[in-house]
Amino acid sequence: MSQTLAVLASGGGSNLQAILDAIAGGHLDLECILVASNKQEAGALQRARDAGVRAEHIPKGPEYDQRLHGLLTGADPDLVALAGYLKLIAPETVQAFRGRMLNIHPALLPSFGGKGMYGIHVHEAVLEYGVRVTGVTVHLVDEKYDRGPIVAQVPVPVLQGDTPEKLQARVLEQEHRIYPAVLQWFAEGKIQVAGRHVIIEEEDPEGAERRGS
Ligand code: GRF
Repeated sequence: MSQTLAVLASGGGSNLQAILDAIAGGHLDLECILVASNKQEAGALQRARDAGVRAEHIPKGPEYDQRLHGLLTGADPDLVALAGYLKLIAPETVQAFRGRMLNIHPALLPSFGGKGMYGIHVHEAVLEYGVRVTGVTVHLVDEKYDRGPIVAQVPVPVLQGDTPEKLQARVLEQEHRIYPAVLQWFAEGKIQVAGRHVIIEEEDPEGAERRGS
């Protein structure tokens, strides 16, 4: 039987879609049992409904963290993937899913991460700074934004004439490849966490390429 996955998303949900497509295509051996969002109008919720996956909106308010915690612990997924989820996860929930809650960030952490570094702002900051290489980071979630142990990184070159939107599109392409691949490593039990260090069992050359090493 497949392990189960819950996805948290605040936006359009293209990463969620890549995950759902990988599951449907037989490349990702997980069952997505829940998609939750803090935004009622999130495209991600619609994508979940279209795929026949339970979709839940959690309204803003003082009980938000508690409700999210209850929803996740009630559904009891093996893994949780944050995919464009714009809120900090409460410590109690981080603790409940430590080592099995992932986030994807559209830059090479620890650069261009932290509060306020989301969406197009990340790519604007990358271009403004003038770095030559940006990319994607998949990391475990801890109590701070974008800080948990890094599982995988993929570099994306910054090109002459890039706009934030062009760069975002090229980075997203890589996000859609790496996130389902990383989730599959978890599904196969290939991941061990030792403090800040993540050990990936039995790497093939393609896997090393995917991680950008
Ligand atoms: C992605 O760039 C992801 O890395 C970031 O938010 C964006 C979400 O995009 N955390 P989408 O909603 O998956 O299309």
